[in-house]
Amino acid sequence: MNTIRFVNLCLQSGSNYYRYILPARTGLQFFNKPFALSQHSTRFYSEKMSKPKVYVTRAITTEAMNILEEFCEVSSWPEPDPVSRDVLLENVSGKDALFCLLTDRIDKEVLDKAGPNLKIIATMSVGYDHLDVNEIKKRNIKIGYTPDVLTDATAELTVALLLATSRRLLEANEEARNGGWKAWSPFWLCGPGLNGATVGIVGFGRIGQEVAKRLKPFNIKRLIYHNRSEKAKEAKEIGATRVNLEELLAESDFVIATCALTPETKEMFNDCAFKKMKPTAVFINTSRGGVVHQESLVRALTHKTIWGAGLDVMTPEPLPVDDPLFKLKNCVILPHIGSATIEARSTMAMLTAKNILAGLKGENMPAELKI
Ligand code: DGY
Repeated sequence: MNTIRFVNLCLQSGSNYYRYILPARTGLQFFNKPFALSQHSTRFYSEKMSKPKVYVTRAITTEAMNILEEFCEVSSWPEPDPVSRDVLLENVSGKDALFCLLTDRIDKEVLDKAGPNLKIIATMSVGYDHLDVNEIKKRNIKIGYTPDVLTDATAELTVALLLATSRRLLEANEEARNGGWKAWSPFWLCGPGLNGATVGIVGFGRIGQEVAKRLKPFNIKRLIYHNRSEKAKEAKEIGATRVNLEELLAESDFVIATCALTPETKEMFNDCAFKKMKPTAVFINTSRGGVVHQESLVRALTHKTIWGAGLDVMTPEPLPVDDPLFKLKNCVILPHIGSATIEARSTMAMLTAKNILAGLKGENMPAELKI
């Protein structure tokens, strides 16, 4: 009995991939005459292999789109505003990879809709609390994220927000514009200074450490941090001391939250925490709104349990314009712009695209979330 052996051949032509399954002899002939394939009378099967399909949930940079399009069939939500849930569910179906943002909740429903082809989820963020990591891991889907590239931008913004809050910059600007500025006045628009202050950082990861470095030159007296794990080497270099949360809250003139949102940190800044802070304390949050019990914060600011707060993140986002926080003069609110430098956002988009490409090619992602 004759046994026919087949060879499996993959070729790329322009942007298309073709797979040929050829009887072994024909395969050899083909290698000898590379351009004669179509003239072969010998039996062969060709099947167009489609490029991996990627869905991108927002308008991103041309550079990031370009590198994705070289290798993938890309479809996207082309607007600067978030994709609706329905559109996301419809478009994720059958995709090999998903490029998402922190505004997209990626849960069981999305994963079920995506189906078994989905191999990579890359989020253009360092935070991943919008991803149902357990469901994703169950399906052996790899996760890419964007650590490091936004650290400097977020640390800068944290310092800017701290100063804007303590030195009442927005209120001052408003007064200057609306005629409230009558004359130089000794105690008007005063706030607490950093010189000689104790600064407490909750979450001493990359961003927390960079915030600390940037605050040192303000001549602060003491830098303390609270973190799940000891960061002895980094803390020594920076000159920070690890303390428990109670001590940090009680001792700090400025309490800065730069921790990730996890089940342990969820609403850790609650009535009880604010009551432990000094009445002169300034609270700054550039991590996630979820680490704060927001009604407690409103109470703390209203009753002057603490002096003021600066928030780049809150719950929900966007914060409704009639939210009580907007009525409080001692609260500065920014619309989650921590990483919003041109450089950081472009690099985040590019890194997300590179995570997808590496994942699809079976290579190590430049930034894979391994938990
Ligand atoms: C992130 O990447 O998680 C930040 O919150 C975006 O600025």
